[in-house]
Amino acid sequence: MNTINTSAHSESMEKQLADALKSVARRLDIKEYIDRDPVMNQLLKKAADRYVTGEQRQQALHTARELESAGYAVSLEYIGENTQSAEECEQAVQELSALIREAGADRKGARVSFDLSHIGLLLDTELALRHLLELAQQAEPVGIELFISMEESAKTDRILSVYTRAVRQYPDNIGITLQAQLHRTPEDAVAQLPAGARVRIVKGAYQEPESISMPRSETLDTRYVELVEYALQQSCRVSVATHDEALIDRMLEILQTAGADRYAEYELLYGIRPELSRRLLDRGQPVRIYLTYGHEWYLYLCHRIAEYPPNLFQAVIDILSEEQPDFVRSYIEKN
Ligand code: FDA
Repeated sequence: MNTINTSAHSESMEKQLADALKSVARRLDIKEYIDRDPVMNQLLKKAADRYVTGEQRQQALHTARELESAGYAVSLEYIGENTQSAEECEQAVQELSALIREAGADRKGARVSFDLSHIGLLLDTELALRHLLELAQQAEPVGIELFISMEESAKTDRILSVYTRAVRQYPDNIGITLQAQLHRTPEDAVAQLPAGARVRIVKGAYQEPESISMPRSETLDTRYVELVEYALQQSCRVSVATHDEALIDRMLEILQTAGADRYAEYELLYGIRPELSRRLLDRGQPVRIYLTYGHEWYLYLCHRIAEYPPNLFQAVIDILSEEQPDFVRSYIEKN
């Protein structure tokens, strides 16, 4: 009885912590304080280093090279979202252009991921489309795939409309992320995914009302599996993007029995369950690691702790640690 109460209590604490972190992540005043205060900045940055490769593009590319030489594929993201001015959007597009150019110079098969709200969606849907097409024009000849992330449900229609218009012009190098948690997603998949599309299936990171979304549950996992199966039937190239080991095990079984022409890979965020990525790679599975960089690491750190509150303990350990851990090593060394 006691155990049940204790576990219910700690679940409720975790939920409260997750909610608090999600709202703290959105508080501009806290972010500005952390940007200004060198001590606070340095301490939190130590916790973020586990999930973010660095503030500079070169640091992300360096980590990408290390992981690629160990057999992983990579995705690269310059962190940012909800850009409010045309100048900031332009700056983000320039950074993404440089990333595409430099990532494309010495590798094939890398992926660059971003939020459309980083490149103009909040200002004007047409601006986001123009920026996406501009980036796709640069990415196609150097073999870089562009992947659109999926944001809050208030933006889903606009994101899908930009995607469907852009993918007609660049069918082989623009992909889309779909969130299994939204009730609309199975219909969106049928309506919006062209045969052979590139799609990443995630459970969904945003808190949405239950009228349009479902919480983490067995039902959500089943829907996740159904979405992956549907996409494979449409000959899509599918990224199974989850850290949920039980779900990955189900997918491994399903994919084993699917035809050899079916293509799926596992995609995991850098810093989360590196030992799981390594195990998948050792089993001969294609594994892609999602690397992030940029100055907006604080928001990203809050998200990673909020989605799995025990990471708060890890953050405290990282902050207090005197050593500079080598996070890449856990991907490279065999289990
Ligand atoms: P879930 O939350 O169901 O938890 C299951 C188990 O996984 C946990 O018990 C734990 O073992 C492990 N786990 C999960 N998160 C962990 C963490 N942070 N640290 C340690 N262990 C953890 N979302 C979105 O809305 N739009 C997007 O565009 C993207 N893009 C994206 C790309 C990629 C490559 C990934 C992997 C994920 C995203 N996401 C996303 C985030 C996604 O929607 C989801 O919020 C997280 O992946 C957490 O859900 P899971 O399915 O991983 O596990």
